[in-house]
Amino acid sequence: VTGHDGPVSPPPGTALVTGGGGAGIGSAICAVLAEQGWAVAVTDTDPQAATAVAGQIRRAGGTATGYRLDVTDPPAIAAVVAAAESELGPVTGLVNSAGRGLIRPLADTTLAQWDDLHAVDLRGAFACCRAVLPGMVARGNGAIVNVGSVQAATPAPGYGAYAAAKAGLVGLTRAVAADYGRHGVRCCVVHPGLVDSAANRELLTALGDPQRWMDTFVRTRQMLPQPVAARDVAEAVAFLLSDAAGRITAAELTVDAGCSVMPYDDLTDRPEAGP
Ligand SMILES: NC(=O)c1ccc[n+]([C@@H]2O[C@H](COP(=O)([O-])OP(=O)(O)OC[C@H]3O[C@@H](n4cnc5c(N)ncnc54)[C@H](O)[C@@H]3O)[C@@H](O)[C@H]2O)c1
Repeated sequence: VTGHDGPVSPPPGTALVTGGGGAGIGSAICAVLAEQGWAVAVTDTDPQAATAVAGQIRRAGGTATGYRLDVTDPPAIAAVVAAAESELGPVTGLVNSAGRGLIRPLADTTLAQWDDLHAVDLRGAFACCRAVLPGMVARGNGAIVNVGSVQAATPAPGYGAYAAAKAGLVGLTRAVAADYGRHGVRCCVVHPGLVDSAANRELLTALGDPQRWMDTFVRTRQMLPQPVAARDVAEAVAFLLSDAAGRITAAELTVDAGCSVMPYDDLTDRPEAGP
């Protein structure tokens, strides 16, 4: 019982969300999944943030527990999956939302920066898939959603290491779908466009004043001139994790207000053309 209107029968199961303590997309995914009846294992490197998000969910009538989890640490992943399964039930859903960003031209990107980013955004997602797949296969039931980025297919200058990791995540998504589709497991990827989050604001300082940059982007680089909210992304993730997406696998769903296919149009750059 989630405290929300409508029947929730049978309950969708338990979903583990990485980076779920994030005030941006991560916590929005946890909240929407809980509203839809999932028991949510909220995991994050920041244990206080994970616990706080789980507490909010419980206060709203949902089921959730917060866990400290660094996705670069495979033994810790196995331990958290085991803890979540004993507390909340078999993990039938996984959302890899933990991510790090970097804005730096490729030739200025150190190998250490590349490795640190890929350790979270790509290797971390693989490690989490590895940890939950045996259980999903044994039960013949599971769904995984990876949080990619529009940068995977249409990288902006300076996003090289990040774009490569997120493009790798598309390959990982298709590979998991191919390997485990016959065992009842689906795997998809959601590509957010520009979403206002603390993590993204910190990154965007590399390009100037983040607020000004985001306002200009929304007004001139999106087909829909309204900001994409974390919740918009979370709704897409929840759909792909749900049984309503039962015949959808290896799919990419972009939630970007059209920015990744927006042709350059300097007419929209005029202030009077803004929203
Ligand atoms: N914000 C955007 O515009 C945007 C756009 C495209 C894609 N994304 C992707 O969406 C996801 C969420 O981004 P967001 O900006 O909303 O951030 P967010 O607010 O969800 O915060 C990210 C969270 O990830 C956690 N994290 C970082 N490293 C971790 C690790 N090693 N193990 C576990 N957790 C870790 C952080 O503690 C933080 O709580 C990321 O994968 C990001 O790449 C974001």
